[in-house]
Amino acid sequence: MIDIHAHILPGLDDGPETPEDSLEMAWAYVKAGYTTVVATPHVIPGVYDHTRAAILRSVRRLQERLQAAGIPLTVLPGAEYHVSDRLLPLLRAGELLTLNDTGKYLLVELPFYQIPEYVSQVLFELLLAGVTPIIAHPERNDFLARDPAALAEMRARGILAQVTAGALTGLFGSAAKRVAAACVREGTAQFVATDAHGPDARLEAGAEAAALLGASAKAFLHTNPAAVVEGTAMDPAAFAGASSSRRNRLAVFHKEGKGKSFASDF
Ligand SMILES: [Fe+2]
Repeated sequence: MIDIHAHILPGLDDGPETPEDSLEMAWAYVKAGYTTVVATPHVIPGVYDHTRAAILRSVRRLQERLQAAGIPLTVLPGAEYHVSDRLLPLLRAGELLTLNDTGKYLLVELPFYQIPEYVSQVLFELLLAGVTPIIAHPERNDFLARDPAALAEMRARGILAQVTAGALTGLFGSAAKRVAAACVREGTAQFVATDAHGPDARLEAGAEAAALLGASAKAFLHTNPAAVVEGTAMDPAAFAGASSSRRNRLAVFHKEGKGKSFASDF
């Protein structure tokens, strides 16, 4: 599996504090079945003002430590950008750090409670510049949760989305679970990532979500993330959703407290 949303770099945000903490997290990733993780520290104006150079340097150091410790995990550079009017100037200055620095896909976090008007213009300008925005955890945005059509509209414009594995497993409550499952089912999300901040429940949810997704897991946790890491175009089949032909059985996915793998329900 490949994780395209992970707070694994030490001391940069609210993820691991020390390099040792990062190594512990890396081991947890290996045990959970991950081979590759894109490090996506928060970049929030005035809160976490990390430069592209600082993130690249931190990734390089962590990768050296992983090799020295014999931990078979590849860590690649990236960032989780809080959407702001600073993104376009950063892009023009060559300062924006896309996922694995390919210049193709950018992980963008929207505000939790609303979507300011300038946001659609920023996303549109990114698309025009050849950078595909990937909306981080749309299930945690109040506006998108209440209006699924808005996400479908974004998808129609070429904007992608990543749901959090823990949302699918119910870690963030039933409302987030319902929205995340709908994103997966309808194909408005193309990625399932952990958004882990340590060797925590969010990280463990990656493997649990894979079990829930069954046959669809490969697309959400490997094939589509691999296209992002390689900076290649996504397979159009990736946008079909978990399975329209098995829609009836997908309904089971929404039932709470079944206490079993949903793999057979997909
Ligand atoms: Fe995050």
